[in-house]
Amino acid sequence: LKNGLALTPPMGWLHWERFMCETDCKTNPWRCVSEQLFMQMADMMVFQGWLDAGYQYLCIDDCWLAPERDAQNKLQADPIRFPGGIKKLADYIHARGLRLGIYQDVGKKTCAGFPGSLDYYELDAQTFAEWGVDLLKFDGCYYGNLQQLEDGYRRMSMALNRTGRKIVFSCEWPLYARTLTKVNYSEVAEYCNSWRNFGDVADSWSSVKSILDLTSAVQDSLVPVAGPGAWNDPDMIVIGNFGLSMDQQITQMALWCIMAAPLLMSNDLREISAESKALLQNKEVIAINQDLLGAQGYKILKVFNFELWEKPLNAGSLAVSITNRMEEGGPRRFDLSRTMLWKGTACYEECYVTQLLPTRKEYGYLNTTAILPLWVNPTGTVLLRLD
Ligand code: DGJ
Repeated sequence: LKNGLALTPPMGWLHWERFMCETDCKTNPWRCVSEQLFMQMADMMVFQGWLDAGYQYLCIDDCWLAPERDAQNKLQADPIRFPGGIKKLADYIHARGLRLGIYQDVGKKTCAGFPGSLDYYELDAQTFAEWGVDLLKFDGCYYGNLQQLEDGYRRMSMALNRTGRKIVFSCEWPLYARTLTKVNYSEVAEYCNSWRNFGDVADSWSSVKSILDLTSAVQDSLVPVAGPGAWNDPDMIVIGNFGLSMDQQITQMALWCIMAAPLLMSNDLREISAESKALLQNKEVIAINQDLLGAQGYKILKVFNFELWEKPLNAGSLAVSITNRMEEGGPRRFDLSRTMLWKGTACYEECYVTQLLPTRKEYGYLNTTAILPLWVNPTGTVLLRLD
């Protein structure tokens, strides 16, 4: 979507995977979806270095709404969990240099059963703009039929544009449309700043690897449409939670950067390990994701259960990841040669190779004939940068 926004993949935090639809603040005050949760996350984002690292969008997902619209049909936040209302929360967030993301649905109801935007696209877009919302995640539950689904996304995109406020539009259009039709990705990219293609990420290795497999299986249709203002969204980063080993967290971070994915973390910033935090805040790794060329990386090779992906970077540089997809045994050696990369034409004469993950290492210049032996842990990834 050419609205001047999301010229690099949006970065931030989104509550869904970690906090889901917890609405019981009596039994669960620390974890319920409430203004207090978002104010605490906002403080963490500023004081724990997340904003400095680039994570700017603090995003609310489903379950923020009151069960009904108000007398004027306007949306309203749940009065018990968001007593100050969204406008006040937006002010709090903006005062800290952050941006606010919110959630709605193209259909009659949100997935969790709260009032959806159907019949109210114009009004809801205006309400969000009035409140100071900076990003809208637009879900697709209860969409009706394919035409209503697609029209709904088009109309909400135009309604947001008419408000005059700069609002990133994050869609789930292809995820819901793909079972009914062949998705026209250039059209989706015209109306959305990012879009989900597959089901929800869970806090597990099987989920992360299935998203990688699904993405690479159809990369020929996904990769060409991605670029500044328009990104494929493989869903949230679950690093810092319970389900991934450190090697698997490294794999998610490396590959989400290679895929030029929005980096929306869903974790608890109030209780995250130093190791996960360092990984998520690694500036050189983030730079691969935020590279100004805006090219989405793709899988180039699967051999002996190693996966090799590359992502073209600005000024002729290249990011390369090698994942060990064996789930037994110990570290295995992969011999990287430049002939495997960029159809054999990576770097003109020689490349300077820096390993960014799992640890930083400089390998120096690699000429056309040299081979670089790399040791990769089971389910782990080595991320390199070639300049
Ligand atoms: C389905 C979406 O894919 C999820 O990311 C999340 O927004 C839930 N709906 C919320 O109900």
